[in-house]
Amino acid sequence: MKLRRWVATAAVAVATVATLNSLPASAGHPYDPTDQSLRNLGLRHNLYVGTAVDMDALADPDDPQYRQIVGDEFSTVTAENVMKWESLEPTRGTYNWGPADELVSFARQHGQRVRGHVLVWHNQLPGWLTSGVADGSISNDELRDLLHKHITDVVRHFRGKIWQWDVVNEAVSDPWDNPPTLHYKGFWAEHLGSGYIADAFRWARAADPQALLFYNDYNIEAFGSGDPANDKTRFVYDMAKDLRSRGVPIDGVGSQGHLGTQYGNYDTLQVAAALKKFTSLGLATAFTEVDVRSQMTDGVQAGESAEINPRLQASAANFSILLQACLSERHCLSFTVWGFTDKHSWVPGTFDNPPEGLATIYDENYQPKRAYNVMRADLIYAGPPYVLPRVAQRPHR
Ligand code: XIL
Repeated sequence: MKLRRWVATAAVAVATVATLNSLPASAGHPYDPTDQSLRNLGLRHNLYVGTAVDMDALADPDDPQYRQIVGDEFSTVTAENVMKWESLEPTRGTYNWGPADELVSFARQHGQRVRGHVLVWHNQLPGWLTSGVADGSISNDELRDLLHKHITDVVRHFRGKIWQWDVVNEAVSDPWDNPPTLHYKGFWAEHLGSGYIADAFRWARAADPQALLFYNDYNIEAFGSGDPANDKTRFVYDMAKDLRSRGVPIDGVGSQGHLGTQYGNYDTLQVAAALKKFTSLGLATAFTEVDVRSQMTDGVQAGESAEINPRLQASAANFSILLQACLSERHCLSFTVWGFTDKHSWVPGTFDNPPEGLATIYDENYQPKRAYNVMRADLIYAGPPYVLPRVAQRPHR
């Protein structure tokens, strides 16, 4: 090697090590070069690596590995269910904070940040609310007041303890809905009109000036046709742009990342391009619920490696595509998987015709899969010039 080239290479290497060593470390967890956990490797990029947490599994004394891995491998946690409205207020006026508070205190003990999930969604609403609306005993005006109170009470309760709130979740329809032209769908839009979205962000900001406020949705990993009539990413982009232009305090867009190996899916550069477009609006981004499911064919269920192997490989590749895209975009703050073990994954219970599974990074016996090692490799081999540390997002006023 020519001397000049060697000197240049060495200079880059020294600069790289200096950059990595001067990175901010999360509370109580400085970067440790001997530790290859996801959370530690994420520190090299100031990227928070997270999981959804099933609070029953976390508390189960017969399932100690679950708790251990949540603490060891992740630097951010999301409540899989216990911060949803039906869990927090099962009876009108009576809050059940217990399980959500437990998660917040687990996170504090383990030096983890918390993603709050979720303030406004059309699913997992309490029965008293949906039945009251259905039988006319709750008017639309009262419903709006109830939503305002819900957001205010919940955000105030956790004030100062939540890093990112999913303020509004899944507000936009899909091309397979009726009508197929993309629109604001579901309970809230039907009763309050699309104005509830801006209201929700404003109410959340009033209750916690520090938390980052996110819009969260699925099938927005990459742009499609570019026509908001059928391109959901474009629809959400236009929505976010409009909210920003009106001064609505939205700080980020969360891409859930529920993928399946039976679909075409994307490549890293396509996904990175979508993240960059959101960033151009001044928004942070995050992957918030990543899993990559597969169809459980007869062969998979019979344990045939010729059927299982390609699925595990394709799953790993998709985790990697989203993670590399996130790493490449400095405003992509966190990468959260929706459960980390097939033992506790929502997929088999939700996608059962045909049956689907194998969606997470550890198998049912807590053995790490290829997807887990691919994620570690991505975190290990990423660095300057293409991957630089994340830029902290400041709450938008
Ligand atoms: C799912 C949970 O994983 C399940 O346990 C629950 O029964 C239903 O909700 N998008 C979201 C999450 O925003 O809240 C959903 O979580 C998965 C899809």
